[in-house]
Amino acid sequence: MARTLTGTMQAIAVTPKQPGSAKQIELAMPQASAGPALIRVLEVGIDGTDTEINNGEYGEPPPGSPVLVIGHEALGVVEAIGSGVQGFAPGDLVVSTVRRPDECPNCQAGESDMCLFGNYTERGIKGAHGYMGQYYSERPAFMVKIPPALRPFAVLLEPLSIVEKATVQAWKIQERMVWQPKRAVVLGAGSIGILATILLRLRGLEVHVYAKTPKDSLQADVIAQLGASYDSVDDHPIIGIEAELGQIDYMLEATGSSTVAFEAMAQVGVNGVICLTGVSGGNSRIEIPSDVINLDMVLGNRVAFGSVNANRRYFELGVQHFQQAEQRWPGIFERLITRRVPFADFKSALDRRPEDIKTLLTIADE
Ligand code: BGC
Ligand code: ZN
Repeated sequence: MARTLTGTMQAIAVTPKQPGSAKQIELAMPQASAGPALIRVLEVGIDGTDTEINNGEYGEPPPGSPVLVIGHEALGVVEAIGSGVQGFAPGDLVVSTVRRPDECPNCQAGESDMCLFGNYTERGIKGAHGYMGQYYSERPAFMVKIPPALRPFAVLLEPLSIVEKATVQAWKIQERMVWQPKRAVVLGAGSIGILATILLRLRGLEVHVYAKTPKDSLQADVIAQLGASYDSVDDHPIIGIEAELGQIDYMLEATGSSTVAFEAMAQVGVNGVICLTGVSGGNSRIEIPSDVINLDMVLGNRVAFGSVNANRRYFELGVQHFQQAEQRWPGIFERLITRRVPFADFKSALDRRPEDIKTLLTIADE
């Protein structure tokens, strides 16, 4: 068994469904019984899901607990490991996956990201504490080892795994025919949109990104470095993108706006595919040109699909693509880390500012 550290630790937790409830709490050190590895957290990335949970729109505490420790994107270091555990040693850098399986056939096959029954838990999101604390314990099956050279940006592996899955799924779906994709459109220039652009450029596609961010922003500059085009939706409304660009083979929606998702569906080209990744916690309703969208989907063999979460295969793919992309665009991932916030200022980290790409909460310096 792992060394059990006694005492308490500091973490950030919310009371789910209570807007703005994030607070610093003291928790018992994780128990060795919960997982034979004890991991010390270095830094945690913040995303839209964290902000939505802190807004009270999303999130569920572990059974019996009134609070939920948030954070699902974490880079940590193995502090102690149970004897007999293969493949990890103290000092190893680790990013752990988010979802934990239930009894369904997909989860049992190692694909909890495709869970059928819905009784999965997600660390920091649904029914299980997350990583925004000094330590957590875990089972090696859910831990992904990080080469030391990736230390400066490995915390981006979880969001990268999300786009790895979306991309692999789209390409698998398109095995339904001869498919030679040339042009892709990415909607949204947050970390998901930019990471998707990186993967699509690595696959050799021409990529056009559209978002709300101004043209003179860091986002636009990073996208230009990747050899993709960037335009603001203010002067290029979504309805009209296909008329402007021509055939769009692949679209990735990563704005979080369900309106954009439906508008985009009418813009995919013939035989094209659109992947939706936004988790819209709200309840908005819109009117859509349903005849036009339906007709286009049918007559053009178009596919729209959703993609959530990622199993460890996609994290492992992400580790490879980190290395390939760094070689091609040195320093690209560090450019995405726009704020590092000290632990005590967690409230400011949870605040999303328009100029943010990825905000990190620093838990420990080394
Ligand atoms: C996380 C996913 C998770 C999803 C839905 C996202 O922010 O990255 O791992 O499945 O939220 O809860
Ligand atoms: Zn399942």
